[in-house]
Amino acid sequence: MRVVTARDYDQMSRKASYIVASRVILNPRCVLGLATGDTPKGLYRELVRLHQAGDVDFSGVTTFNLDEYVGLAPEHPNSYHRYMEEHFFRFVSIPPEQRHIPRGDAPDIAAECERYEEAVRRAGGVDLQILGLGRDGHIGFNEPDVKFEKGTHVVRLAPSTIEANARFFASAGEVPQSAISMGIKTIMSARRLLLLASGPEKAEAIRGAVLGAVTPDLPASVLQLHPNATVIVDDDAASLLF
Ligand code: F6R
Repeated sequence: MRVVTARDYDQMSRKASYIVASRVILNPRCVLGLATGDTPKGLYRELVRLHQAGDVDFSGVTTFNLDEYVGLAPEHPNSYHRYMEEHFFRFVSIPPEQRHIPRGDAPDIAAECERYEEAVRRAGGVDLQILGLGRDGHIGFNEPDVKFEKGTHVVRLAPSTIEANARFFASAGEVPQSAISMGIKTIMSARRLLLLASGPEKAEAIRGAVLGAVTPDLPASVLQLHPNATVIVDDDAASLLF
């Protein structure tokens, strides 16, 4: 695991954007795994800037998002479909058929999980997977104590995750109780992983993920076993590392 430090959120976002942009420049038809949440917003902003400067062309890229809330249609204001549209897709020219996000409103959620896993496989797997980090150490929506060997599956969200994500909804009661998420097995199959963490509330989880034992109690710790994982942390998130 490679740990890269950044002085603050903006520098973390810029460093991450250079890593993602270099993948796309070297392989314009690469498969990117995307995350949502607050952490990668700055990364998307920087990638849009690079696109607008004409430095990176995303039109050949295929994308797979990590997760989506069960029960939310793509048009729902809190869906990850909407998030991706708002922060990235509407600015760059990735054809819609090359973008993939699990359908939280699928009539058969188990079948949707299988379909999604198969779609990742058919695309040849993910070249570079972007990850954020939950305060409890989750990646995707793989909460503590998940089995490492799972593919895309339905997850019951931990109370702490519901509470953390309530800021995006009118109230905690409106946060869906479950989500479709790539599993740890899916994530670990990506050829490269890029985990971003910013802010003091991530410091404990970063310490566990980087220095602690590899355990399902802290799902991000599994990154230690990946042959090509990079973690970019800002000074606040790295405060318990050195
Ligand atoms: C989002 C995702 C989650 C978030 C994590 C951190 O697609 O999979 O694991 O990355 O909950 O969220 P933020 O960045 O909002 O702190």
